[in-house]
Amino acid sequence: MKNSKINNGNTPKKPLVSKETSIKLSILLLFTGLLCASILIGREFIFETTLGVLFITGLLLLIFYKDLNRYTPAIEQDYKTIILVGILITGNFIIARAFFFIYEISTISLGGVDPMLPIYLLPLAIGPMLAALLIDIHTAILLAVVTSLLAGLWLNSPIYPIYNFAAGITAAFGVIRCKRRSAIWRGGLYVSLVSAFTAVAISLLNNTFFSLDTPVILALSILNGLQVAILVSALLPVFEKFFKLSTDISLLELLDLNQPLMQELLAEAPSTYHHSVVVGNLVESAAEAVGVNPLLARVSAYYHDIGKIKMPEYFVENQTGDISRHESIAPRMSALVLISHVKEGVELAKQHNLPQALIDIIEQHHGTSIQSYFYQKAKEIHESDNTTPPVQEEDFRYPGPKPKTRVAALIYMADSVEAASRTLAEPTPPKLSALIDRIVNNKIIDGQLDECELTLKDIREIKTHFVFILSSIYHKRIKYPDFEIENEDTDTKPAAVPEAGDKKNNGGSRKHPNHPKTA
Ligand SMILES: [Fe+2]
Ligand SMILES: [Fe+2]
Repeated sequence: MKNSKINNGNTPKKPLVSKETSIKLSILLLFTGLLCASILIGREFIFETTLGVLFITGLLLLIFYKDLNRYTPAIEQDYKTIILVGILITGNFIIARAFFFIYEISTISLGGVDPMLPIYLLPLAIGPMLAALLIDIHTAILLAVVTSLLAGLWLNSPIYPIYNFAAGITAAFGVIRCKRRSAIWRGGLYVSLVSAFTAVAISLLNNTFFSLDTPVILALSILNGLQVAILVSALLPVFEKFFKLSTDISLLELLDLNQPLMQELLAEAPSTYHHSVVVGNLVESAAEAVGVNPLLARVSAYYHDIGKIKMPEYFVENQTGDISRHESIAPRMSALVLISHVKEGVELAKQHNLPQALIDIIEQHHGTSIQSYFYQKAKEIHESDNTTPPVQEEDFRYPGPKPKTRVAALIYMADSVEAASRTLAEPTPPKLSALIDRIVNNKIIDGQLDECELTLKDIREIKTHFVFILSSIYHKRIKYPDFEIENEDTDTKPAAVPEAGDKKNNGGSRKHPNHPKTA
């Protein structure tokens, strides 16, 4: 019978709600519950009111999530950001409740003071400011909107959300693209000014401007900005550390070449250090052109090869003398040593508490590309000596993963391009352009750019920037026929073999057979 076949009990039933949806629903319910509790605490329990607050809070959070999902589709799988947003919004309320409780007791003890005056000193703008610093401005604006509406619900005030929204939006925009921790204080100052202005406007609206409360409200509004700046300065490092997030501020700190890891790289592998700085120059302008954070791109370039600190002498750029370390070891072992710099880099980055974005880029900066020099060498050895074990291509590939983000793909391309460009005897713009085209096309054919979000238009833009930057770097190195410089040996030193995966050598290359190319 047809029906008995279908319902024989062996076919696994598809759950009505997927695992991902149930996790997200649980997160939504958890934060809705926490927010409701912080709004309703201290009030007399009325079933209908509680249900109303619960529905409104749940609806606002759902709208918030839906908009985030539309604006940043990647958030669908990014539970960390969903939880961070939830913590920012509920934490904001919990902190505000705690402060309100303290201020309320203080005003009662003073006597004769309106117990609602401290609402002008509630630090509800910390959520939007932290969101602008840790996530993006869009999330910060949404957070300011939802926080303001919920604050109106909490304080039973139709006017207060205006004050709160103005402070929250100012807090978010006040720290946009801020480069120093001190910028948080500037953001706080803006919050003070806008809060004071809005408070005056509200007093005028309420027809209470000429009351004795106005100077107090003004003072509280100004203090509000200061309080927000203090709290954000204290909380930002906690969020950065706990969620392993990078803000422009922390990235700028890492951009300082006096950082211990960069100093160690300079001491142990000076040429890798130089290569990393050049890759940093390459990626910065290209990043700007394709709408990626240029600061993150430059910092990632600086740190992408830190794993070479462990065994620098095995990498061509740090090799001294004509004999390569790889001459005395099997190609498989050479490939293993080179591949290991990715894992070592990730370990070092974790030890030094680098942001997760940087750790991911270090891990992805070679994708699953092949060490073709050693792969070909191993195959040649096997062909001439059949007693050696067969050569597996996978053994010569980096473990990956492939670049997952546009920044990671940018570093991946710039890394290969910079290393290969050093093989050109005369790096003129046409030669550089041809070389870059060849390298990037090989990456595309090898499927290395399949998992990032770069479009063909982005890639064309990136290639143009690479040619421009490399041409300006190498411009000084091109010899002019009439000016022979004595003892100039830059162009005669042995260099790397061409880009991995390339079968043919480039026309003017200065390759050295003992120097496998590693980027
Ligand atoms: Fe590199
Ligand atoms: Fe590398």
